[in-house]
Amino acid sequence: MKTYPPINPKAPFIWHGGDYNPEQWPPEVWDEDIALMQRCHVNIATVGVFSWVSLQPEEDRFTFEWLDTVLDKLAAAGRYVCLATPSAAQPAWMSQKYPDVLRSDATGRRMHHGRRVNYCPNSPNYRRLAVQMARKLAERYKDHPALVAWHISNEYGGFCMCETCAAAFRSWLQQRYRSLDELNRRWYTRFWGHTYTDWSQIEPPYADGENAIHALTIDYKRFQSDSMLECYKLERDAIRAITPDVPITTNLMGTYPHLDYRAWAPDLDVISWDCYPWPNAYPGDIAFLHDLNRGLKDGQPFMLMEQTPSSQNWQPVNALKRPGVLRLWSYLAVAHGAETVMYFQWRRSRGGCEKFHGAVVEHSGRSDTRVFREVAALGAELERLGEATLGATTPARVGVLFDWNNWWAIDAAVGPIRDKQYVATVRKHYNALWRHNVPIDIVFSDSDLSRYDVVIAPMLHMVKPGLAERVEALVERGGTFVTTYFSGVVDETDLAFEGYPGPLRRVLGIWVEEIDALYEGQVNHIVLADDARDGMQARYTSSRLCDIVHSEGARVLATYGDDFYAGTPVVTENAFGQGRAYYIASDPEDRFLDDFYGRILATHGITPLLVTPRGVEVALRETDRRQLLFVLNHNPDEQTITLPAGQRYRELLSQREVEGTMRLAGYDVGILEATAPTDR
Ligand code: GLA
Ligand code: ZN
Repeated sequence: MKTYPPINPKAPFIWHGGDYNPEQWPPEVWDEDIALMQRCHVNIATVGVFSWVSLQPEEDRFTFEWLDTVLDKLAAAGRYVCLATPSAAQPAWMSQKYPDVLRSDATGRRMHHGRRVNYCPNSPNYRRLAVQMARKLAERYKDHPALVAWHISNEYGGFCMCETCAAAFRSWLQQRYRSLDELNRRWYTRFWGHTYTDWSQIEPPYADGENAIHALTIDYKRFQSDSMLECYKLERDAIRAITPDVPITTNLMGTYPHLDYRAWAPDLDVISWDCYPWPNAYPGDIAFLHDLNRGLKDGQPFMLMEQTPSSQNWQPVNALKRPGVLRLWSYLAVAHGAETVMYFQWRRSRGGCEKFHGAVVEHSGRSDTRVFREVAALGAELERLGEATLGATTPARVGVLFDWNNWWAIDAAVGPIRDKQYVATVRKHYNALWRHNVPIDIVFSDSDLSRYDVVIAPMLHMVKPGLAERVEALVERGGTFVTTYFSGVVDETDLAFEGYPGPLRRVLGIWVEEIDALYEGQVNHIVLADDARDGMQARYTSSRLCDIVHSEGARVLATYGDDFYAGTPVVTENAFGQGRAYYIASDPEDRFLDDFYGRILATHGITPLLVTPRGVEVALRETDRRQLLFVLNHNPDEQTITLPAGQRYRELLSQREVEGTMRLAGYDVGILEATAPTDR
């Protein structure tokens, strides 16, 4: 089993805490805050996220004294600090003095100062001043007893289309393509006569400019993602030189569209992310995001950096988390690899656009509130749990492939249907597996697939170099590969393969002739061949997209039920080496995927961790000494779970022995550890 460096080397427990903005309050409140933190077992505070102007009110004046006091008080109270660099929001003086730090919008128009993450990632002034601040913080606090982690900036994101970025983009392209001829070829610029005859002609894909070359659009996204990563790395390197042993991270945002987090992951010591599902989210969708974050560094545990203790304020409807849901979703994160449970925010701001965002301490400042009590109870429980889950990993044999560049290519594509739903489709396939209570890893186009038995790659439109070879190797040695409609269509610069599914054709044993798109509400059917039923229904519905497929050796498991292509293949199975590769040519109803994946898991002997009622999830984390089964009741009402006969468990949260059946109240959680089998 692979082991990872501890996220919290200073103390053996799950960090419990979150964003603390002391500069918004007079110093008298700080003592009160710390007393309240002690009462709800908050052991870590993220400090300084937006403090730039409070630390540097003018270019040549630094005011760290207030931060010294806050850190000293936290340390004196035995609390730890995740110290943020404040570069997500530059001071007004900086935008005024150096206008190049401001971002430009999609038409290249420089935006006004304000909001946050409104800096140009290629601005030399921004970079210089951000790095200077990071270095000063590291020098000042390098030996501070409270310091346990660095949080660089906050939620990198968006994009800039200013002149500085345009020039940097041209250099980035020169590095990538070397010659203009090569760029013209890869970008297919002969189309509509868009051939460039000089590097200086290349502009960002302005909303009112060149947005018809999809390879350019995709490369600009790659470039902006790289530019922001560059900003992160500059601050990171400055800090690492001074505190080489303190882990450094920045908070990610799940399936955030504009940054390729897989490309970022190697530069983060630990992944951390901000989890803000819609209050009525499907629990599998949240589990998917945690697994995605665990996958970014190939299984390494991560930090849950932010979640709301009660409600958000920026969604259309900001329902409160029902009593118990904060605890349930916190353990959901831990069950999938989190080693911290942290909130945004500690104390609710009195003004500004987040004054209705949930906090541990509300405007009333009181601790006799539902939310405070729930946070306090959870903190106490996490403290009791101690180090039980730390360093644990998830032994998944199934991988679901997700890829940001693929997403960008799918979204850039004009046709065959406007709403492509890439992320929703990946989640749909993930959820069908998740409902089987098996551990799942999220993998990427560059992942090592050799540790998996089953790899599922929904809508693998862009096939990057080397991936098809790894897929073939997986199947050859007995693994299963599944992909769907709209796969194997373009290469990494969005040039269509001459025939789909491109490099996946050999392993799939099919070719795709046409792609039909269905109107909302319109369906086709997946009709199983009699000899391929094997416990599945005879027919299922499918919708959205229908590839018209020819077998080149693959067995046809199901055919379309309707339309002029009725009777042609919709699900195929190709024997390749010792394994099998499947193509699902249309978008099936959930029931199909549940049944189909149930069958595939069974062929590999991958069985549910526990068989549970609907809405009760089971996840596994293990160390070389312990195996912990998390049982999470996502239903509002009580559920009874049947445990394997003859096996006795200890439930770590209630500290009770269980055997035979376990009852879980609505939204309740249990962490089971097998003890000696019952004598019979
Ligand atoms: C993000 C930010 C926080 C806060 C929350 C609100 O995660 O990092 O500063 O704005 O969103 O949900
Ligand atoms: Zn810019």
